[in-house]
Formats: sequence, structure tokens, C-alpha cells
Amino acid sequence: MMQTTEENLKNAFAGECQARVRYLIFADVARREGFPNVARLFTAISEAEQIHANHHYRLLGGLNGGFTTVAKGTFGPGETSKNLSLCIMGETYEIEEMYPAFRAVAELQGERAAFTSFDWAYQTEKVHAELYKKAKKAVDAGKDVELGTIQICQVCGYTLEGEAPDKCPVCRAGREAFKAFQ
Ligand SMILES: [Fe+2]
Ligand SMILES: [Fe+2]
Repeated sequence: MMQTTEENLKNAFAGECQARVRYLIFADVARREGFPNVARLFTAISEAEQIHANHHYRLLGGLNGGFTTVAKGTFGPGETSKNLSLCIMGETYEIEEMYPAFRAVAELQGERAAFTSFDWAYQTEKVHAELYKKAKKAVDAGKDVELGTIQICQVCGYTLEGEAPDKCPVCRAGREAFKAFQ
């Protein structure tokens, strides 16, 4: 694998792992604060980040040994309103900087599998940012968010609110690939 794409995969893996754990921590806080739907949103999205991490990690299967990774993390947890701000910050960085750059390099380097792995995450993080913005608006108004079923595609991590579609708009997996969080 080309070196820059390999580095990007390692760092993207690190970022997704952090997001996964951060969201589970935030889910506990939201539950304690009496925001069960926000907690459900964090839990569902944490699963999408795990799926992205899985894909990035598997593509590094040719490596052997330990490496230092560099991933942007958002720190300074607090109550749910602040935690949602951290989430929006993290997802926005991934959408505006990290994944577009990683995707472009993978394409330039002819790394098709890495391109797909980055692209699946990129498409998904766009939805995450919007869902977190909606949640923050509700929490800042002192309410839990009104939230339908959250669906997570178990193939690519794609996330949506509502009924599972016949085909995943990102990876084309069938309806049965979606796991519902309700
Ligand atoms: Fe995300
Ligand atoms: Fe999918």
C-alpha cells in the first residue's frame, strides 16, 4: 500500500476509535441527565464509528507491529450540551478536512479499497453532524430531542433517522443490513 494512504488509514482508525468511546461516555452522561433519546443517538452513532474503525483496521492487515498514530480528538467533556458541541466539532473536522483529504489522496494513489473506506465514513459523518446539531438545539432548549428510529447500516455504518430504506444509499446493501435503535 502507498505510504501516505497507509498513514491516513492508521490515523483514521485512531480517530474512529476515540469517537466510539467518547460517544459511549457521552451516552451515559445524557442518560443520567434525563435525555434518553440523546443517549440513544450517541449509542447508535458509536456503533457506526465502530464499523468505520473495523474497515480501516482490516485494510492494515498487511502490517505487523506497533505504530504511533495521530488523530484529532476533542477534549473537555462536560454536560450533554457541551458534549454535543464537542461532537459537532469532531464530525465537522472529519467532513470538512480529514475525510475529503484522505479520500483525495487514496484516489490519487490508486488505493481503491482505502478510498471506499474513507468515503463510507465521509458520507456517514455528514449525517452525524446534522443529527448532533438537532440534538443540541433540543437540549439547549431544556428538552430531550424528538427522535425517530435511528438506523445503522451494518456494512458501511451509514446512519439515518426513520424507516430502513430498500437499499443503503452509500453501500447498496439491502434493507436487512440495517440495525434499528429505537
Ligand atoms: Fe461520526
Ligand atoms: Fe451501507
